[in-house]
Amino acid sequence: MDDAPELTGYDNEDEHLGLYQRATETGVEWWRVSVADRPETYRLEHGSADARGAGTVDIDLVVDEENLRAKLKKWRREGFAIDADDTPNDRAANARISFMPELQRVAALMSAAKRRPREGTGETVRIAEVEVPCGVGGALVPPVNPAYLFAARFNDIVEDIAENRRVMLIGHTGAGKTSLIEQVAARSHHGVLRSNMNGQTTVGDFVGFWTVKGGETLWVDGVLPTAMREGLWLIVDEIDFAEPSILAALTAVLEPHGRLVLKEKGNEIVAPHPSFRLFATANAVGAMSQFRHLYQGANLMNEAFLDRWRVYLLDYLTPAEEADVLMRTLAPNMTRALATTLAAIAADCRAAFAREDLSSAFSTRRLLDWAELRLRTGDPERAAAPAIYAKVSPEDAALIRGIVRHRIAPDG
Ligand SMILES: Nc1ncnc2c1ncn2[C@@H]1O[C@H](COP(=O)(O)OP(=O)(O)O)[C@@H](O)[C@H]1O
Ligand SMILES: [Mg+2]
Repeated sequence: MDDAPELTGYDNEDEHLGLYQRATETGVEWWRVSVADRPETYRLEHGSADARGAGTVDIDLVVDEENLRAKLKKWRREGFAIDADDTPNDRAANARISFMPELQRVAALMSAAKRRPREGTGETVRIAEVEVPCGVGGALVPPVNPAYLFAARFNDIVEDIAENRRVMLIGHTGAGKTSLIEQVAARSHHGVLRSNMNGQTTVGDFVGFWTVKGGETLWVDGVLPTAMREGLWLIVDEIDFAEPSILAALTAVLEPHGRLVLKEKGNEIVAPHPSFRLFATANAVGAMSQFRHLYQGANLMNEAFLDRWRVYLLDYLTPAEEADVLMRTLAPNMTRALATTLAAIAADCRAAFAREDLSSAFSTRRLLDWAELRLRTGDPERAAAPAIYAKVSPEDAALIRGIVRHRIAPDG
């Protein structure tokens, strides 16, 4: 008689389905039981995964019920236990459980097989956790901000840049959309052009125009063909304010190798340089639409257009991250205690903005400037006048003053 305790999932038929695992020296070994195509048959897959979750499947077979029962007995002897946190009791749950190991397996294979085409100098630089191809440098490369903090959540964005995806960053003013792209460009030596759609940018500025110079008629490339030909990175800022004709020109180049047709110039075709990248930023698009009332005049972007981008919502840095940035930017004069208080004030102001108690956003830039001036004057109020209060309405200034007083006792 076998007096080992019965494991959940070993008796009822549907409960056979699921993931059976045992720990190994380097990770886990598992068997997955799912429903096969023919009635009363089961698909068995076997695999192992290391500590990082990368894994492979080495056995994949179909068995009948009798065979399955024999296997279940054997696995029990070998120490496999059904995934206890997630005991499957129906097929939907089973599909859910099979999904993650399957996804991890495919992701591991893709990452092993990754061969990026060489571009630029053929060199790469590691940014966050991604190898980014280097550009050729030049005057348009933004300066490196040594205090810039690459949070782990930026990895996917950097990976998309390396893979030549079109990336749109959405988020509040001053959350760090532009600086993320610029700091990746700075570290990988790519030149950057910026074009702000919330102003007088015309389709002529963007695509190009004819002009007369010394009696001669000349074509002048706009920022888009310039960036495409020169292999620059183009940031289309506040894309939700762009005119339809600009969006139409952009749509053509949203495919990775999409070409631009200069209709005004006899349909000349501009092919993208391999280093060319296209970015957009917006405040009130997609997941940020709930804040549209805070950003007057922004246009709704249609879903077909949005689907041509990878859209990332970028939030402000957390107070802990922002305190780190303050420490690094203002080293050696900034102390941890001061930085923590300042970051908490910024977080309070942003919460008030999100609640619509404040009409002005509170950027990391504003915080850094205030902190710097505060160190010079030794007086938070005096420093706040040019860094904050003079830039906002009297009502906002009064509310921010209240937040500051609350966090910094007058004689503290
Ligand atoms: N991760 C970060 N590390 C350090 N500074 C940051 C970071 N993100 C944003 N900042 C600072 O915040 C300020 C505002 O960022 P910016 O990119 O201009 O915002 P947005 O484009 O979203 O309006 C910049 O001065 C930048 O230096
Ligand atoms: Mg910006």
